Amino acid sequence: MASANQPDLSSEGSHWDEIYQARLVEALSWFEAQPATLQLVVAACNSAEDRIVDVGAGASTLVDHLLIRGYKVVTLVDLSASALAATKERLGRLGAAVEMIAADLRNWRPTKPFDVWHDRATFHFMASPDDRASYKATLKASLAKDGRAVIAVFSDEGPDHCAGLPVARYSEQSLAKEFSELLHCTYSKTVRPTDDSTDSRPYVIGAFVRRPPN
Ligand SMILES: C[S@@+](CC[C@H](N)C(=O)[O-])C[C@H]1O[C@@H](n2cnc3c(N)ncnc32)[C@H](O)[C@@H]1O
Repeated sequence: MASANQPDLSSEGSHWDEIYQARLVEALSWFEAQPATLQLVVAACNSAEDRIVDVGAGASTLVDHLLIRGYKVVTLVDLSASALAATKERLGRLGAAVEMIAADLRNWRPTKPFDVWHDRATFHFMASPDDRASYKATLKASLAKDGRAVIAVFSDEGPDHCAGLPVARYSEQSLAKEFSELLHCTYSKTVRPTDDSTDSRPYVIGAFVRRPPN
């Protein structure tokens, strides 16, 4: 783990840390036992060696499902060191090779590009144009030339706040447009999460491939 034991001193990091420290992961409104994006992430991978990053991973169980399916190179990035510590504890030995990085996506840069970028319920917290531009700059710097992405955000019928913070909402069309400079949307759908989820809010999920350079 790169720095999950080091507290993130930014106020937003503290905000998220307090949330993860106050509640059981299963009691969080966004908890999913069976991630609705899992099949799209699996479909986006070319092999079990693909480098997968889950950004704003929180304490999501996506990593558990990927490891069980044999994916070997998984990195988790989140502002909250507490969320990553919860995942580390839950995974135990299964997660020994998982890289966990406590960082702000808006200025984080990886050392090596990723084949697959996954984000569920984090991009929608980029509520200002500046934050969205910073997130996209990180995505551009992080994704391999032929990289793929799966991004899930609140649909335009979703809430306007989550975890006490404002969120941006999207239709399938506006999500595709938001990333169209860098990514081509190959598939999208609007879903309520699975029966295994406590999160009944509507999401838009997009699957993308990186556009070739001009
Ligand atoms: C609603 S939770 C979703 C967590 C997880 N993806 C899931 O589906 O269970 C949003 C997550 O984004 C993280 N987050 C918010 N802003 C972030 C930022 N700028 N950089 C990194 N992580 C961030 C929060 O700490 C939180 O864990």
